[in-house]
Amino acid sequence: MKRKPAIIRSPEAMGRWSAGLKGTLGFVPTLGALHEGHVSLIKRASRENDVAVVSVFVNPLQFTPEGFRKYPRNLAADAKLAAAAGASAIFAPSAEQMYPAGFQSHIVLPRLFAALKRQNLEWHYRGVLQVVMKLLQIVLPDRVYFGLKDPHQLALIERMAADFNLPVVIRRCSTVRGRDGLARSSRNALLTPGERAAAPVIYRALCAAKKALHEGKTPARAMRVLEKTLAAVPLARLEYAEIIDPSTFLPARRGAREALAYAAVWIGEKRLADNIRFRLK
Ligand code: PAJ
Repeated sequence: MKRKPAIIRSPEAMGRWSAGLKGTLGFVPTLGALHEGHVSLIKRASRENDVAVVSVFVNPLQFTPEGFRKYPRNLAADAKLAAAAGASAIFAPSAEQMYPAGFQSHIVLPRLFAALKRQNLEWHYRGVLQVVMKLLQIVLPDRVYFGLKDPHQLALIERMAADFNLPVVIRRCSTVRGRDGLARSSRNALLTPGERAAAPVIYRALCAAKKALHEGKTPARAMRVLEKTLAAVPLARLEYAEIIDPSTFLPARRGAREALAYAAVWIGEKRLADNIRFRLK
């Protein structure tokens, strides 16, 4: 058994803890409700650094009020999982500590945000950037770990870090999936058995789109293949899909070094998102 990790509540205490460290610090920001995907990031952070810190903070700025209320919370279970994966400390501040009266700053990446308009989620990513900037300033890690599971978030954070010369190395971590291809997500726990059985169609649809592209079909045709694959499963309803360049969010062009197929899909009442990356021929 690993030692119980320290649970640190205030930004000031977290700052003091980091400042007192000798070795390198690897940091994994999370919303909690930890699963195997998070665990793989924490294990990597702990392997590549002298200590690993995990933050567990349900950031109100990136949720609708209802989403915020419903987000699963279980700090005791998270602390246990994080410790078993090698974390030495959990930073779990309150919303009041993170956003005291008067808080207002935010970061805008005009071109990426313009490309995000299609999804109608700029407000969400704006909240993500606000909290990530704060967390990085408080924890002051040498390396920070993000999942490729959330490709828009990752690209925005990479751009922000480069633009503002943030003194941290960003590590991209691959998506952890079940044997049936379903990406691990805190939302999977909310699926009924029927929905759980339907959900792997998301990954199948993304792979079918990739195959179509590799067979020489146009992105528009590949998108239709994706839609058809999803339509075969009655519980699945496509909200949004795109085949883009993951660094600009603009439509992927032939010969692009990297393309990303992304889909946000409703399985019953739950919205799941997934993506795969590949080279376009
Ligand atoms: P959360 O959804 O808890 O995810 C925390 C980190 O785990 C993110 O970097 C995410 O990409 C990664 N992750 C989630 N599922 C994964 C999977 N199946 N395989 C690999 N990595 C996975 O993303 C957030 O929290 C928040 O927006 C945050 C960055 C913490 C800001 O509030």
